[in-house]
Amino acid sequence: MGTPPLADDLCIEAVRAVSLHRSKQDAAASLGIPRSTLRSRIRKAEERGIYADEPSFSVDPLTSEDVPTPDLLARKDRDWERKKQARSDRNLIHIKLNVDGPFGLMFFGDPHIDDDGCNWKLFREHTELIKENRDILFSVLAGDLTNNWIGRLNYKYGQQTITAKQSWQLVEWWLTELGESIMLGVMGNHDHWARGVQGSSPLEWFMANRTGVLEPYEVNASIDTPSGEAFTVNLRHNFKGSSIYNKALAGMVKQLRIKGWWPDIMLAGHIHISQFTQVLNPTTKRVTHLVRASGYKEIDDYADREEFADHSIFESAVLVCDPYEKDPRYRVRVYDPIHGVKVLKMMRSEWECDKSASTFIL
Ligand SMILES: [Fe+2]
Repeated sequence: MGTPPLADDLCIEAVRAVSLHRSKQDAAASLGIPRSTLRSRIRKAEERGIYADEPSFSVDPLTSEDVPTPDLLARKDRDWERKKQARSDRNLIHIKLNVDGPFGLMFFGDPHIDDDGCNWKLFREHTELIKENRDILFSVLAGDLTNNWIGRLNYKYGQQTITAKQSWQLVEWWLTELGESIMLGVMGNHDHWARGVQGSSPLEWFMANRTGVLEPYEVNASIDTPSGEAFTVNLRHNFKGSSIYNKALAGMVKQLRIKGWWPDIMLAGHIHISQFTQVLNPTTKRVTHLVRASGYKEIDDYADREEFADHSIFESAVLVCDPYEKDPRYRVRVYDPIHGVKVLKMMRSEWECDKSASTFIL
C-alpha cells in the first residue's frame, strides 16, 4: 500500500502559517513540524493552486498608544540600573558628621502623636531637649508617628479626640521642631498604612527635602566622625522574633547572628516595650548596643484588652557616642533622655578641655 495523498487541509494550514510568520522556520515551529515537512506541504499547495488569502481591504496606518517594545526594553534597562544602584547605596549609608567630640543620638520611640494615650507632656519635654542641644544631639525616629487608622480600624477615629487631618498638623509641627536634627528614620507599620491606594505617604513628603535619611523599612548607616572613628547603626521599626525569656530583644539578637553584621548600635520600636543590653562580639571584641524603646503610647486600651503587661522602662533613649573613648566597650553609653543629655554635656565639657581624649568616668 502506498503513502496516502496529503490532505488539502494540511496544505492550506502550511500556506497560512507561512503568511503569518516572518520565516519558514517560525512557521514550521508554530505547526510543530520540521522545516522539510513544511517545504513539502508548500510545494504540494503550489501544485494544487492553493495560495494564502489576499485581504480584500486595507486600513490606513494607526499609531499605537503602547510604548514600542524597543523603548520599553531601554526603559527597563535604565530602571533596573537605577534600582540596583539605589539598593547598593543603602547597603551602608555614610553620614559625614561635622561635629567633633562626643555627640548624642536621641532615639525617639513610637510617638503615636495623635493618640489620646500618648504621654504628650513627656513627648514635648523630650522634643525640647533636641531644640536646646541641636548642635550635639541628633534625632533618630523609630516610626509610627501617628495612628493612621485604616480599614476595619477606621472606627477608632471615633474614639480619639484628634482627627486624621489634625494628626498630620501635629506631625508637621513636630518635624519642624526637630528641624535638621533628624539624622535617621524608618517608617512604622502605622506610617505605611497612610500610603493608601496611591502608594505615597505624607511622612515621605515631609521628609523629601531634608538632609536626614527616612527609609521605609531599614537603615544601615555609618556615622563617620571628624576623628576618623565611625559608629555603625542598624535601625528598624521592628526586628522580628520573640522569646518568653526576652521579648524585647530576642528578635534583635536573632538578626544580629543571622546577618553576621555586628553594628555598634541596633535600634527598634514597635512593640511598645523597652530594654537595652550589650552583646560582645567574641571575635572582634567590639560591643553591639541593642536598644528597643517603648514610645509614648502610655495608656493603651488594646494592651489592656490583650493583657499586655507594662514593660515600658523608657520611652526614648539617648545614646552618647564618644569617638575619643579609648576602651572600645564604652564608646557608646545608653541613658534615658534627661540623664543622657546631662552626661553628654559633661563629656563634651571635659573633651573641650583636652581635645585629644575623653576622660569621663562613669
Ligand atoms: Fe507603634
